Amino acid sequence: MCGIVGYIGNRKVINVLMNGLKRMEYRGYDSAGICVLENDDLITLKKKGKVSELESLVDESSFDSTIGIAHTRWATHGFPNDINAHPHSDNSGNISIVHNGIIENYMSLKQGLIQSGYTFKSDTDTEVLAVYIGALYEKTNDLEHAVRLALSEVVGTFGLLVLSKTEPEKIIGARRGSPMVLGVGDDEYILASDATAIIQYTKQVIYLSDNEMAIISKDGFTTKTIDNKATKNTIHEIEFNIEQLEKGGYEHFMLKEIFEQPTTIQDAFTGRLLADKGNIKLGGLSVVSEKLRNAKRIIITACGTSWHAGLVGEYMIEQLAGIPVEVEYASEFRYRNPVLYPDDVVFAISQSGETADTLAAVHEAKQKGCTVLGIVNVVGSSIARETDAGIYIHAGPEIGVASTKAFTSQLAVLSLLALYLGRMKNLSQLDGKKIAQEILQIPDKIKSIFDHSDEIRAIAKEYSSAKNFIYLGRGYNFPVALEGALKLKEISYIHAEGYPAAEMKHGPIALIDENMPVVFIATHDEIYHKIISNIEEVRARKGKVIAIANEGDTEIARVANHVIYIPETIPMLTPILSVIPLQLLAYYMALELDRTIDQPRNLAKSVTVE
Ligand code: M6R
Repeated sequence: MCGIVGYIGNRKVINVLMNGLKRMEYRGYDSAGICVLENDDLITLKKKGKVSELESLVDESSFDSTIGIAHTRWATHGFPNDINAHPHSDNSGNISIVHNGIIENYMSLKQGLIQSGYTFKSDTDTEVLAVYIGALYEKTNDLEHAVRLALSEVVGTFGLLVLSKTEPEKIIGARRGSPMVLGVGDDEYILASDATAIIQYTKQVIYLSDNEMAIISKDGFTTKTIDNKATKNTIHEIEFNIEQLEKGGYEHFMLKEIFEQPTTIQDAFTGRLLADKGNIKLGGLSVVSEKLRNAKRIIITACGTSWHAGLVGEYMIEQLAGIPVEVEYASEFRYRNPVLYPDDVVFAISQSGETADTLAAVHEAKQKGCTVLGIVNVVGSSIARETDAGIYIHAGPEIGVASTKAFTSQLAVLSLLALYLGRMKNLSQLDGKKIAQEILQIPDKIKSIFDHSDEIRAIAKEYSSAKNFIYLGRGYNFPVALEGALKLKEISYIHAEGYPAAEMKHGPIALIDENMPVVFIATHDEIYHKIISNIEEVRARKGKVIAIANEGDTEIARVANHVIYIPETIPMLTPILSVIPLQLLAYYMALELDRTIDQPRNLAKSVTVE
């Protein structure tokens, strides 16, 4: 949440900052702002709303500066307005900062500063930090020292950039709990919340660790801990390409990402699926293979869509490997003192690798001695680095705030994991080969679902005035019902609930009337006939049924108002297919309602505050 970027080098900084803000806008879009050092002065421009609002204020040709910082905001403290927008400055106007995170003790710091005569313009925690750094700078006359002193007093999280007109040759960056990447170019350096703001200028990056600072100047950079001990860093190469950050002709990133899924799924299993042997090779897990073999229990922790993937993973692993699995919301897990044993293996699933609750759950599990593994998309992210080992899902950058391709890649990786564990246990090679053959067919099966896009769009048109939706599924399709409802809620703002279909009779059935559309995921499995009975129960109460069913199913059209057909696969892989029409349904509903699909209100792509 919030994106920050700072640059020093030979380019006109205004272009670098504006590009960086546009690339990171998915991190927050309540306001945007820049501060550049122009003719020995700090020039700040900031505006409520999206980066395009700020753009209308900025005349790029009037800036020559080559050093500056910028911010795109997801509001925590204070309304989204011009005054609360970052950057914020100290009372002297010498220092400007941008901040991603939360300063939890800002109130007590603020009261102390007010008593000492300092004043405040905004409601933000960040301005308190700016004023505090300014106050310490008055005493120390050393910016780096003042920043270190301030940060040693701060409780909370920060990705922070500091610029000063009295020490104009540098930008100081620091992080704790919020991500920061340092781009290392030729005589140019860039600090940003994520690599998307950097790739246009260099592919060489350093992922800063928690409690680490970076000081960049035109002549180079240094890194150290906040308590001033030198740190060693490794330079990594960014793995994605700049084209992957473009819409590529699609109207929205979300649609592009939905249509990328045949490729991203393929990328998730390429080199890992040894189909002719029915085996799986997961290089990232080789160091913990014995731990996995001996695990008495697996715990999966995650948030949102990644938690839904975890629920599917539970079913897969228990089915193929017979290892008990528990799935926990990271936000609950971290605070409820979970009972954990050293031979438990904890998997943290996260697209961004930066979700604050999931990261805290990782810390909790490590503290209790468990083996902690990651299933992560963003390379070099905090969860990827802080887990003992893990599996990257290789979905490429996901820009649409609503997760789509990351979800199916998480499912693909979880199916590989289940097969890997199954083959370690009692799953036969023959069964392994059969599952592997099914996995290989998934990309083409997804492509065939796209042929139904027009039908799905027509259904969306018909139901776009509905105020509520219910999504129902059983077995492997229960988490898909949750995910379908979440997708609809977050991008169309239509209220939707997902339930296990059999739970309907225990309450939700009271909601059914002629105005209630009910989406049933009714693919062929052992309990197919049970779900047909559930559909009949909804129809008997005049509910409107939209069914996701398998091609060749002749029975379903008799009971459903609409049927969207998908190819058949084995039950454990069905969610990878059955979620596709639900992603498209949510997308087309939001399109009908003219929503800001890639940047839904109140949301941000990566939830780095709790
Ligand atoms: O980056 P993560 O996978 O850890 O993010 C978890 C959730 O915040 C995320 O899945 C969220 O629910 C999405 N908006 C869903 O589309």
